[in-house]
Amino acid sequence: MQLPEAQVAVLKTADSETHRPITEIADEGGIKPETATGAAFELEEEGLIAVSERTESTTELTDEGAQYLDESLPEIRLYEAAIDAGAEDEPVSLGQLLGEAGLEGPEVDIALANFARKGYGKVESGEVAANPDADAEADEELAALETLDAGEAVDDDDILDQLERRGLISRDESTVRLAKLTEDGVTTLMEGVEVAETVGQLTPELLTSGEWETVEFAEYNVEAEAEDPQQGKEHILRQTANRVKDVLVGMGFKEMEGPHVDAQFWINDCLFMPQDHPARTHWDQFDLEQPDEIDELPEELVENVRSAHLEGVGEDGDGYHSPWELDVAKSLDLRGHTTSLSMRYLSGFAEGDLEPPERYFSVEKVYRNDTLDPTHLLEFFQIEGWVLAEDLSARDLMGTFTEFYEQFGITDLDFKPHYNPYTEPSFELFGTHPETGEIVEVGNSGIFREEVCKPLGVEADVMAWGLSLERLLMLMYGFEDIRDVHGTLCDLELLRDVEVVY
Ligand code: PHE
Repeated sequence: MQLPEAQVAVLKTADSETHRPITEIADEGGIKPETATGAAFELEEEGLIAVSERTESTTELTDEGAQYLDESLPEIRLYEAAIDAGAEDEPVSLGQLLGEAGLEGPEVDIALANFARKGYGKVESGEVAANPDADAEADEELAALETLDAGEAVDDDDILDQLERRGLISRDESTVRLAKLTEDGVTTLMEGVEVAETVGQLTPELLTSGEWETVEFAEYNVEAEAEDPQQGKEHILRQTANRVKDVLVGMGFKEMEGPHVDAQFWINDCLFMPQDHPARTHWDQFDLEQPDEIDELPEELVENVRSAHLEGVGEDGDGYHSPWELDVAKSLDLRGHTTSLSMRYLSGFAEGDLEPPERYFSVEKVYRNDTLDPTHLLEFFQIEGWVLAEDLSARDLMGTFTEFYEQFGITDLDFKPHYNPYTEPSFELFGTHPETGEIVEVGNSGIFREEVCKPLGVEADVMAWGLSLERLLMLMYGFEDIRDVHGTLCDLELLRDVEVVY
């Protein structure tokens, strides 16, 4: 019988008596494990090979386990020191014994907990009494560590569980595939098999020579289990940020750019946030020590903003009756929102004067001195945006959000009236978490007040928002902790396996 090369190799290396691991067959047959696995499945379909599976567990000492193998377990060291000091007859001070046993740091607690658990003695009011009947030389856990270290198996599951709980061993399970010749396989081998000349790839030469008509092509088995290569891929946060950008560009928006560290002027003052506003304290924002102030601010704008803060805007306007200092406005912070970019653009400072209608957005990082919890980080991505046009209303904002979130499959937005010093009306946006059903805040928005627009020289209406990219991701993918996608605790499986939602 003629068979592809890999199948011949597997058939000749497999055994009719025992199930052999396919990795071993691959090794001996001089082919790659995944090729051997593919070939074995193909042969199974022909009835020449039987493929089976076995779960194998491996047990290894952790670094701590290996260290105790060397130095003995902390509780044994405490017991031996106690015996040496005569604590069988008369209690001895714990401090003295710890010194003699060379126990310090976390080892002390480990020694005490296990000393009591194993009945090596009692510790009361800082005194250790050793149990004369205990036999630390026969410590089962230390013996098990020694056995494992010698490459032998330990059968006692209770002891293995205990060692695992103590972090002294790690246990792993893996699936091993095995192959065995069937009777038909043996018969086929006896009748003789040879390698069929198959062609794996169609080449220009095969085509021009006309040979393609007579050669035999290798078959693909698209169902064969293959290795799962885990290469790097785009993080879902970045993936979604790029999608957000595409969607907004599709809705006619242009992208803003600007500094992560900015003057409080652009971050707060332009937004009619009084300089003594609680959100402007060190508790909320990250101050820069060096450099500590911005080089340049547009003079006329500074004057307009200062006057808005002190005297208000318009005939009935009233300012804040609190101090306004240029030094504060010039001082540098990590931006707590990207509304600083909106101010740079709306004022004409970034790209010159703008004529309505205009639409701008950014998807950029912002920094806040929040308390870490499942929905808060010290930094996150904000989807900032605004529309400059005549006669805008809250309905325009709601319509824009409905259209935007629909692109991500989110159709149940809720809106709640809110207060911002810089917008009137203002409202917060909420969505429903797909797993927990909880209502999650996803953003904040409003129409900029006169006190913001006038100083900037903006005559038309501006509706604006700041949405959280991470919260959008939560609604899309259903994870519950923001730290699943950010930072050292992130859920690698989620990042690896999450389905791309389009
Ligand atoms: N700056 C607001 C925030 O960070 C978002 C916002 C932007 C609200 C523009 C209204 C207008 O929460």
